[in-house]
Amino acid sequence: MLSVVPSPVTVRAPSKVNLHLGVGELRADGYHDLTTVFQALSLGDDLELTPAATLAVRVTGEGAAQVPTDRTNLVWKAAVRLAHLARRAPLVEIAINKGIPVAGGMAGGSADAAAALVGLNELWDLGLGRDELSTLAAELGSDVPFALQGGTALGTGRGERLLPVLSRNTFHWVIALAKGGLSTPAVYAELDRLRANGTPPRLGEPQGLMQALASGDPRRLAPLLGNDLQAAALSLKPELRRTLRAGVTAGALAGLVSGSGPTCAFLCESEEAAVSVAAELAGAGVCRSIRTAAGPVPGARVVDAPGR
Ligand code: C5P
Repeated sequence: MLSVVPSPVTVRAPSKVNLHLGVGELRADGYHDLTTVFQALSLGDDLELTPAATLAVRVTGEGAAQVPTDRTNLVWKAAVRLAHLARRAPLVEIAINKGIPVAGGMAGGSADAAAALVGLNELWDLGLGRDELSTLAAELGSDVPFALQGGTALGTGRGERLLPVLSRNTFHWVIALAKGGLSTPAVYAELDRLRANGTPPRLGEPQGLMQALASGDPRRLAPLLGNDLQAAALSLKPELRRTLRAGVTAGALAGLVSGSGPTCAFLCESEEAAVSVAAELAGAGVCRSIRTAAGPVPGARVVDAPGR
């Protein structure tokens, strides 16, 4: 008998950095209202989805040992949710190759969930549109709709309500991966604690930052980058102060904690500047490892599938 090896669908999903992350009050549902500007970065994860006898998740690459492969993984939840909607069994093996730091504040889990939605839509030929996928994405996590959309976007609500933002040119980043991760709920809780005990400064509105993005000038953008969660991430991991200082000393235009951290992102003048900052930062011994990345890039997208 002829046995046919099923061909996988391959999906690429971006990481993100919040260029502006304004955190409002704690809501009754346990979330905070946000005003944020996301940018999708070329540092990404690759997912391969193959028809299989059961649902299975495998993880390789950066920080793979810390990623669960059971029903607690967002990718698993995405597959179950989509299979339920399509009235079929979730018989698929999802192999995740991680480039995005785990628990790093770069929405790696969200990127994988977005990639799973896009990949299964293709694999199972469901024909779901971007709006339907985006609704499912928001149910999975606050950052999943952005991982689907990519580019540069203004996020409100929990971060799941998105409007595209005009961004001219490509911006160049150095990404400093920290030793260990930070739990997102713990960082938000630390900000609530800091705010209950004092008045850490709050970001204003991101209008100026959006104008700088439209100008495409990294020198205009650099002084406007800001993150309300940074004070909380620094309070939980004080050693990040050294990392932030070292990046600017190495020649970056500005540095900030990415999302809830502990990854730090440094905006650089050019691609060449980013390579030079990365090399100098690697020698400074202030982080676990260094990457360069460019943004904006597209959201989760199929890069290879049978018949393509
Ligand atoms: O939506 P997601 O599951 O990614 O959020 C993880 C946690 O981060 C939430 O349970 C909440 O503690 C915190 N969070 C928040 N406000 C947001 C987004 C996330 O407080 N807008």
